[in-house]
Amino acid sequence: MWDPFALLFALLFGFLILMCKVFGMWIFKEKPKSGLPDGSMWHFPLIGETLGFLKSHKSNSLGFFLQDHCSSYGNVFRSHLFGSPTVVSCDLELYAFILQNEETLFGSSYPKPVHDILGKLSMMLVSGSLHKKLRNVSLSFINASKSSPEFLSYVDSFSLSLIHSWTSLSTPLHFFKEAKKLTFYLMLKNLLSIEPDDPIAENILEEFLTFMKGFVSLPVYFPGTAYSKALKARRRITSILKDATKKREKMMKNARGDFLDEVVQRDNLNDEETVSVLMDLLFAGYETTSGLMALVVYFLAKAPSALQKLREEHQSLRKDGESLNWEDYKKMEFTSHVINEALRCGNLVKFVHRKALKDVKFKEYTIPAGWQVLPIMLATHLDPKLHQSPLEFNPWRWTDPTTNRKVTPFGGGVRICPGAELGKLETAFFLHHFILNFRWKINEEDAPMSCPYLDFKGGLLLELEQIK
Ligand code: HEM
Repeated sequence: MWDPFALLFALLFGFLILMCKVFGMWIFKEKPKSGLPDGSMWHFPLIGETLGFLKSHKSNSLGFFLQDHCSSYGNVFRSHLFGSPTVVSCDLELYAFILQNEETLFGSSYPKPVHDILGKLSMMLVSGSLHKKLRNVSLSFINASKSSPEFLSYVDSFSLSLIHSWTSLSTPLHFFKEAKKLTFYLMLKNLLSIEPDDPIAENILEEFLTFMKGFVSLPVYFPGTAYSKALKARRRITSILKDATKKREKMMKNARGDFLDEVVQRDNLNDEETVSVLMDLLFAGYETTSGLMALVVYFLAKAPSALQKLREEHQSLRKDGESLNWEDYKKMEFTSHVINEALRCGNLVKFVHRKALKDVKFKEYTIPAGWQVLPIMLATHLDPKLHQSPLEFNPWRWTDPTTNRKVTPFGGGVRICPGAELGKLETAFFLHHFILNFRWKINEEDAPMSCPYLDFKGGLLLELEQIK
């Protein structure tokens, strides 16, 4: 007699195999090679375990996929993600090893849909001398911005005017959206001298929001999908930036002292490269800094003693009628602990994409040439072996200088984020005015999510109360 459960199981298994064949998918077992990290053996071709890996979770937690795989296989495991065999690293030592050996053992390697969206000349995608050239141009712009009293004064006054516009609100403030507006207009002004009230500013912002939605969506190129809308938005932004570059080349007599002037005068980038650097800086500069502002506001709402200490620091820096400057920023010691801790807990960037350029040996592991490698910063930031009570938002842990070496929100090696200090400075100036003008409450449910890019499902609605 057949056991009915065995029969049911056999039927189900047969049905599954049939469906896989019918839909052109096949589950297969990967032959383990020697030295490969342990990992799941079964996967679907092409998608592999990608959907599980990308499933959204609170950004101050590991999420089910990493939790499950790390406990089954250890902190370094193999998988099949974004169409490639992959080594996933949640290990700080391997993370440092990968980023310190950029361009010799490992190289940047983002999936094809990211190339289409960012453009083939994006700094995140190119390597070698072209990467160096584009990066140097960006670095000199970012360094000049940090030390420009005019730009710092603009950051200060624009933050203050936006904050003042919130005083008469009768409904909760959509904070994440407002923060994006703030950081986007700061970048537009700094790069292209476009003022926030210029109609083209809102137009470019709308295009960027469409672009961003597609960047974080499934890459399905079909009319009407977020991804195809994003590709179109990218083309329109590129054309606006190309026009602006052409106009500026003709009008060099009326120099405005912004980034575009700088690039046009240097004359070492062609038009396509100039537009690509502008895109990179606009995109990387506003999306990340607004995320950082939102994380700080989120965590502070739940940490009254840190907020109290922060207010004391900013009370002592209060300047009636005068703008904040670089010296003031350097005095914001506790502010920098708060910002660093928000980056550690909130994980603005969860991981970066790399691939092994040759067979690489690291400790007992061998990573075969051509394999994708994903160092997961989020996992090292929340590792209880590295941080005491890692889920707790505790800015005071940054008084210990060793914390700095264990937290890497800006990446590392030759691709370390060139905008780190600028993003922190804009956040610190904004915070100065925000915490001195408002108390706020947030909806408990609206936690920062890793999707894998940072998002707040409810947009981070704040109930504001003005401090008289
Ligand atoms: C404030 C929070 C920010 C965070 C957490 C952040 C994070 C990162 C990370 C992790 C990378 C490395 C990517 C990789 O290795 O593949 C990166 C690269 C980059 N970031 Fe940022 N970033 C921030 C702000 C900014 C700002 C304000 C700017 C520009 C003004 C900027 C411009 C860039 C650029 C151009 C790159 C590419 C660098 C290269 O490939 O050489 N970032 N960022």
